[in-house]
Amino acid sequence: MDTLLLQPVGARERARAVEHAAVCLRQGGVVAFPTETVYGLGANIFSERALHAVFRVKGRPPDNPLIVHVATPDQASELTEAIPPRAHALMEKFWPGPLTLVLRRNALVPDVVTAALDTVALRMPAHPLALALIRAAGVPLAAPSANRSGNPSPTDAAHVIAQLAGRIDVILDGGPCRVGIESTVLDLAASRPRILRPGGVTREQLEDTLRCHVAAARGGTLRPASPGMKYRHYAPAHPLLLLLPRRDEDDAQFRIRFSAMVQRQRLRGLRVGVLAPRAWKSGIDCDAFFSLESGTPADLARVMYRGLHAFDDAGVDVLCCPGVREEGGMADAVMNRLRKAASSVIR
Ligand code: TXA
Ligand code: MG
Repeated sequence: MDTLLLQPVGARERARAVEHAAVCLRQGGVVAFPTETVYGLGANIFSERALHAVFRVKGRPPDNPLIVHVATPDQASELTEAIPPRAHALMEKFWPGPLTLVLRRNALVPDVVTAALDTVALRMPAHPLALALIRAAGVPLAAPSANRSGNPSPTDAAHVIAQLAGRIDVILDGGPCRVGIESTVLDLAASRPRILRPGGVTREQLEDTLRCHVAAARGGTLRPASPGMKYRHYAPAHPLLLLLPRRDEDDAQFRIRFSAMVQRQRLRGLRVGVLAPRAWKSGIDCDAFFSLESGTPADLARVMYRGLHAFDDAGVDVLCCPGVREEGGMADAVMNRLRKAASSVIR
């Protein structure tokens, strides 16, 4: 299949590119498009052919449901039984933005989208091209991240091209993603709100708006509340060793311990890539270094996947990355992704 790459410059070209991609979606095509979190692989939720193509192209297990992307809260309410007051408050505060709400669905939503669950995950993305595309398509778009299942999510059109060119109809380039990791998924279908996947909107922010306790879900249960939680995710092509900071050590000690871990790998004859904050570079002897900028949780979120992709062609045998010391907020979301990407987590 020929994949059409649209890289619009300026308002006129953007409008034309969006219209072109929207026609493709209406006709049952599959289009990768930018959002503020990561690139999505979009399909018209009313096209069974397009939905099946999304699962096939990603190599995604059919029991892992898709997030439905809408252009307005009203479009979301057309797919649900009722919007509970809690959801209204969150939509008002965080939409458009990196928050996905799981609500009871109605019969309009096809089973393929929700893996036959009685709930649907809804999100209004905050990227102008994404919103324009959903509006122009005139239908909600089911869109998982635009990567092959198990690989790191794409935060740049180049990542999508590398993984999916030749397999999908259109790639709409909107530049690098601002947030860099996927949306927070919040379950509002149960009696108590519960985070199924930490992300761009933090638990503290949710609790502030809801004025109640928001639970963080754990993986590994027999029947995961969010089917995606049971699969290994976001993994780079090479083994990733994640070293966790200890409570009783300061930053300097942590850096020494990390540097020693890198040395051990090199002494084994391996070529070692390191992902770490910029300031760590001088003290570390490695074969390739990717800077996680100043290392604040927001920086890490924005560039982490870019770092994992960068090593795919770097000719290294193993990646080493230090964990984040902070807790809560974006730090939790970043550590959630790093743990899933890691082949070993070392204390
Ligand atoms: O930021 C994002 O959310 C990106 C962009 C493209 O919008 N999308 C994304 O989609 O990350 P995906 O398919 O990679 O992740 C969707 C997650 C999965 O963990 C899935 O199990 C969960 O949402 N999910 C979808 N529908 C659900 C439902 N009805 N109940 C519980 N979890 C659901
Ligand atoms: Mg994904």
